[in-house]
Amino acid sequence: MSTPRPPLFQRVAIIGLGLIGGSLAAAIREQGLARTVVAGSRSTRTLEQGLALGLIDEGSQDLAVAVRGADLVFVATPVSSMGAVLKALRPGLAERAIVTDGGSVKGAVIAEARRALGDHFPRFVPGHPIAGKEKSGVEAADAGLYRQHRVILTPTPDTDPGATARVSALWAAVGAEVLEMAPDHHDRVLAETSHLPHLLAFSLVDTLARQGDSTEIFRYAAGGFRDFTRIASSDPVMWHDIFRENRDAVLEALALFRDGIDRFQNAIEHNDDEALMGVMTRANAARAHFLAMNERTSYTRARHSDDETGMTQQSNPTFLARPGGRLNGRLRVPGDKSMSHRAIMLASLAEGTTTVEGFLEGEDALATLQAFRDMGVLIEGPHHGQVIVHGVGLHGLKAPGKPLYMGNSGTSMRLLTGLLAGQAFDTELTGDESLSKRPMERVAGPLREMGARIDTGEGGRPPVRIHGGQTLKGIHYPLPMASAQVKSAVLLAGLYAEGETSVTEPAPTRDHTERMLGGFGVPVRRDGATSTVTGGTPLAAGPLDVPADISSAAFFLVGASIAEGSELTLPHVGVNPTRTGVIDILKLMGADIRLENPRDSGGEPVADLVVRSAPLKGIEIPRELVPLAIDEFPAIFIAAACAQGDTVLHGAEELRVKESDRIQVMADGLAALGVEHEVYEDGIRIVGGPFGGGEVDSHGDHRIAMSFAMAALRASAPITIRRCANVATSFPGFAELARGAGLDLEVHASKENA
Ligand code: S3P
Repeated sequence: MSTPRPPLFQRVAIIGLGLIGGSLAAAIREQGLARTVVAGSRSTRTLEQGLALGLIDEGSQDLAVAVRGADLVFVATPVSSMGAVLKALRPGLAERAIVTDGGSVKGAVIAEARRALGDHFPRFVPGHPIAGKEKSGVEAADAGLYRQHRVILTPTPDTDPGATARVSALWAAVGAEVLEMAPDHHDRVLAETSHLPHLLAFSLVDTLARQGDSTEIFRYAAGGFRDFTRIASSDPVMWHDIFRENRDAVLEALALFRDGIDRFQNAIEHNDDEALMGVMTRANAARAHFLAMNERTSYTRARHSDDETGMTQQSNPTFLARPGGRLNGRLRVPGDKSMSHRAIMLASLAEGTTTVEGFLEGEDALATLQAFRDMGVLIEGPHHGQVIVHGVGLHGLKAPGKPLYMGNSGTSMRLLTGLLAGQAFDTELTGDESLSKRPMERVAGPLREMGARIDTGEGGRPPVRIHGGQTLKGIHYPLPMASAQVKSAVLLAGLYAEGETSVTEPAPTRDHTERMLGGFGVPVRRDGATSTVTGGTPLAAGPLDVPADISSAAFFLVGASIAEGSELTLPHVGVNPTRTGVIDILKLMGADIRLENPRDSGGEPVADLVVRSAPLKGIEIPRELVPLAIDEFPAIFIAAACAQGDTVLHGAEELRVKESDRIQVMADGLAALGVEHEVYEDGIRIVGGPFGGGEVDSHGDHRIAMSFAMAALRASAPITIRRCANVATSFPGFAELARGAGLDLEVHASKENA
């Protein structure tokens, strides 16, 4: 039996027993966080109600009496009365009592507290719980009000850190997420995100209500009006106080908004459709983005938050894949990731409008899309894979107002580094935890040789800072490693360089950049392993079709091969010879894969893939196939685990610097299932045979998560795969598609970090 924990506080005094104070009292009661809860209020009626509702043990109208003997005092009175209230309670404060508040403006409250509390000020912890309801008063008190809501603490340099820590512990104990912020920062942020919208709602309702025919207007007011003005039902006195107390920040936010409205008015007056669409598409995307950030989830999960993937709200899902099953049917996997990135980049730099079909609506490609929106490109969509890009020409990008966030996407960061090296403005590229560990000097190095000025972070990793306005000159760069990203970065910078820029690769890598540049009217000369572009050639827009991604198809090629009785057709898959290593390797292992209907689609070969289950055998993977299957090794390792005999891979050290160290993370997962293997610096040996279930950590690597899901088809017990949120980077809808084909896969919400 566990012994009950001692309460956090002995005696808590709540001053002002309305919704905010009453709800904290209720939550403290519910969680047993204090021995005694006492309230101070000018109103006897409120105190009586508090006692009757069981929220408090005692109450007093005299605030100095109410706080006597309390080790924590929470002041939840209107901001405008805070000074007077603190002054009134000060004589009753015990020496070590902590005082905190719930006021929504911090600068003004801190100034009042400093005056009223004097030498007790260091024990004052300014706070702001961001929670509320349209109802007010003690009768609306709700013990759950703060659960999963944010509380911002804004300690000053004089605030006792011990006091801050104890207040923070209290809020955490009632279920809130506690953040710390400087007071002026808090006031600015709140002015923009809360005070301004309230002001606009009040103002719009009032403006319309003043019109002669207002009854008429309100009778026909539709959902838009109701949604927009909901917050005009909030307490007028409280908002009056807030607008007064946070005067300067509110005025600044209002001025910012006025500029935006002026731009809007201008665009309508001048029939400037591009400007109008620009505002709306950017706003749309930005809203999806901030919803995602608020929910600590990703871009696509916010956009599809009502689907049944389980990938919603704060979750980093776990996959539970059960053994057995087989894969059957016809399924189209999403668009090619590499081509989707390049489509947005080149279409943005082109002159004219490009319609892209088959665009991958996964987070990586969306990060690229957002970056170009942030640089002023008007992009419509994506909508069912269609994106319309209004190109701005080679020199039409504008400086973004903030660092460009690349999420998990190495391709976005590396290719953009090349492209941005030739711009007139500065940029900074940042990424998530995994991307922040990946090497960036491999692109920064050759670009510096061209005359670019680029800084990378510690150890050559992100963030990448690119100083614009440099004159680039063409170079010849022999690539030290087989990397399409490095090759592409140099070629893209070459578009801005004087003369010719060429790269020679040690082994063939994907050539989508070269092909697509050709499609946009920029010839790339190819001479054996060397590709050359000439700087300054304009790009001409045209329609683009992105085929299905062979890297996404790979999971199904492996799954259908290993699960007896499977037959799958995967239509319209890109089969560019620089990408088909996975088919060649699986065929060498004995897989039954056929390419039907081979055709050309906008300069890229495509085909329908038909795969049937077949007994696989272990092989030594030919080294020349490694760069051609570089993203598919996690899936190939699962095929190897199901094959008869050993499969040996060498020459694949690049796998160690992908979204995770794919050699080690795959080895750890295989070990968890009991698959015998031996790890090498540049590869692995996997001994095929029966294996069990277990728990695997994907380390947030999308391809590892999907590969182990397929392994369940041959496991003897369920496989649990942790941290699968990033599946959405390359393959949104994977779980539904795989389930539809016959995989027994459940997605469970979990709050783990990515
Ligand atoms: C890609 C190139 C490859 C690949 C990545 C996409 C591209 O990376 O792994 O998923 O689109 O150019 P490297 O260039 O690092 O090998």
